[in-house]
Amino acid sequence: MTAETLSLAMAESDIAVLTFDTPNKSANVLSNSVLDELASHLDELEQRSDLAGLIFLSAKPGIFIAGADLREFVQSLGAAEQQVVAMCRRGQTLFGRLSKAPFVTVAAINGICVGGGAELASWCDRRLFSDNPKAEFGFPEVKLGLFPGWGGTVRAPRIAGLSNAIEMITGGESISAEAAYKMGWACDVVADDQLLPAAIRLVRAEQATKDYLKDRERWSRPIEITDTELGFLGATAAAVIRQQTKGQYPAPEAALETMLESAMLDSESACQLEAARMAKLFGSPVNAALLNVFFLTDRNKKDTGIDKREIATQSISSVSVIGAGIMGAGIAAANVKRGLTVALTDAARESLAKGGRNVLEEAAFDRELKGPSVERMLELAPLLNLTTSNEEVAASDLVIEAIVENEDIKRSIYAQLEPLLRPDAILASNTSTIPITKLAAGLERPERFCGIHFFNPVRRMKLVEVIRGEKTADETIATAVAYAKGIGKMPIVINDGPGFLVNRLLFPYMHEAIELLCGGAEIKAIERASKSFGMPMGPIELYDLVGIDTAVYAGQTMFEAFPDRVVSSTLLPAMVEAKRLGKKTGRGFYSYDNKKGRPEPDPSLGEVIGPHVRGKRDFTPDELTMRLFLTMFLEATRVLEDGIVRDPRDIDLGLIFGIGFPPFKGGLMFWADTLGAAAIVEMLKPFESLGNRMAPTNLLLEMAASGAKFYK
Ligand code: NAI
Repeated sequence: MTAETLSLAMAESDIAVLTFDTPNKSANVLSNSVLDELASHLDELEQRSDLAGLIFLSAKPGIFIAGADLREFVQSLGAAEQQVVAMCRRGQTLFGRLSKAPFVTVAAINGICVGGGAELASWCDRRLFSDNPKAEFGFPEVKLGLFPGWGGTVRAPRIAGLSNAIEMITGGESISAEAAYKMGWACDVVADDQLLPAAIRLVRAEQATKDYLKDRERWSRPIEITDTELGFLGATAAAVIRQQTKGQYPAPEAALETMLESAMLDSESACQLEAARMAKLFGSPVNAALLNVFFLTDRNKKDTGIDKREIATQSISSVSVIGAGIMGAGIAAANVKRGLTVALTDAARESLAKGGRNVLEEAAFDRELKGPSVERMLELAPLLNLTTSNEEVAASDLVIEAIVENEDIKRSIYAQLEPLLRPDAILASNTSTIPITKLAAGLERPERFCGIHFFNPVRRMKLVEVIRGEKTADETIATAVAYAKGIGKMPIVINDGPGFLVNRLLFPYMHEAIELLCGGAEIKAIERASKSFGMPMGPIELYDLVGIDTAVYAGQTMFEAFPDRVVSSTLLPAMVEAKRLGKKTGRGFYSYDNKKGRPEPDPSLGEVIGPHVRGKRDFTPDELTMRLFLTMFLEATRVLEDGIVRDPRDIDLGLIFGIGFPPFKGGLMFWADTLGAAAIVEMLKPFESLGNRMAPTNLLLEMAASGAKFYK
């Protein structure tokens, strides 16, 4: 057995305390060996006739239990249904003993309590929360394509009510300690250092009133609800779920059906149903894909950005942002929000004033108010310095340039600023297309220069590309990575190259949409193919959002870099000529001439695109999907051949968090692995006539021959 996680102590002569403390980990997880430990402690404790209560505690600050051990889950992904049922039954039976023990059981929750942890707590007679701000309670299993399988779907409706349980389990969002108290999950919320004394008092009170015995009996029965209520609840919840999942994520619907059906059953039969239904989801393609996304983000949290060795990073507490436009203001706001001091500058005074206002409004945005909180704005305002002084700009630990996309102008700014910077300060560009090595030419300290490429809108997009120029030092990269994480972003380190990573992969996909359109495909059909694959919007609408002039400019860069495979389109320049630049001008491929600014088909579009369409023909949905996503995939194999990323996983993380690639597919390379390289080579054959852009790359052919996968 591995080192022990649970330790037993006596809080008083008749009150036992089991404390979770997973060795060498920051969080407690419920692995198989921890479940074994719990079972043997219960074997012993249940034999004792002198016990009044058992209290569960955690020794990890701010974390009670983070859930089941997902690495063990991954190892069991191929398990047969029978085995999965047995896994569920084991947890249910083990935790179920807490609701039958000859003493009162209390979970004293000091922080994050989710997934399997929330299930363990649910089986206790009583739950107490500390007022630790990290405290949260929830069932996030649907985010992994599953639902709670250790009795969560059985206990939650019985303790917190069916409607609350449905919302929590099908939505997967956690609730605060206060909300848990209001819903009836918790008896009380107490000061962090009062958790144990309060739990002891709770045991004593229950001993006197015996209320917990009434609840044990009540929670083992079917739920009291009429058929009409059940029908209404089911129909409304199903409608909400369908709207959110678009039928692409089966777990929330399965959880709902299970809870509706088991409402009329006793607890034991409900547990059996839960296990049987959970076994249908476990190991499914969506479950495997979502687990992969979990591990991608987990890997990213631990990645320093440097492979070779441990590296010292510099702490960044002050940042300057040059350019107060869309991106500059967004970047400044992301910093201010996290308490960093920011000097913001712009060549145009009006832009600076407007940008400054945008920064504060954005940084002080309050979800409940659906607007900026004035108090928060006043609190944050001292962190922001709107300045036109180069000396003030140069005084920061990090300077991020976000001015117009023009190499000469960017370089002239660097020439003015660099001599004023501290020698250890980092200079970075937010450029979306200009190679970092080019921008670094002429710098005295190119080793302190890199790309820090945020995505638009900065507020919503977690991805940041940290781009390494030829001369960028490891320390600079590691510092930029640590800095980006510090402001809540997910940085991936990219080697320099046209379009870096995300735009390089996005371009062939968007470009293929134009080729399909000019080849006679209907816009509606193209958009549908992309959305049914799982993209949040179709590529044609995306053109309108990005701006068609911007797309032409980016396309030019790609054409110059990869003339062997980028076909230059005549349609996009014609759109620009016709002043149809996209959403920003109210008209692009769609019209936005309506109150809500939604894309609507525009009958006058035909005149512009007509001359560029080479005859109509029908495309099958499959053909459209393959053309859109295999071009993107082939470019990804070239990115690997060129050594642009350090690991195929960075491609997947980048696309999921940079352009909304469907998480239920696990990422582009993960998806490709499910098809297999040899099958993809076959799928490409019908597209041979399209030339290089649809031709299998050397990497793909080698993988097809050897049977290798991208995920090793
Ligand atoms: P923007 O046009 O909204 O803002 C640029 C700002 O820079 C303007 O306020 C302008 O007055 C100011 N400026 C121009 N020359 C200057 C100078 N010499 N000194 C000081 N300020 C100067 O542009 P946006 O969209 O914010 O883009 C900025 C940079 O971010 C570009 O390099 C762009 O490629 C990149 N980027 C843009 C994204 C987008 O979606 N808009 C996404 C990611 C990167």
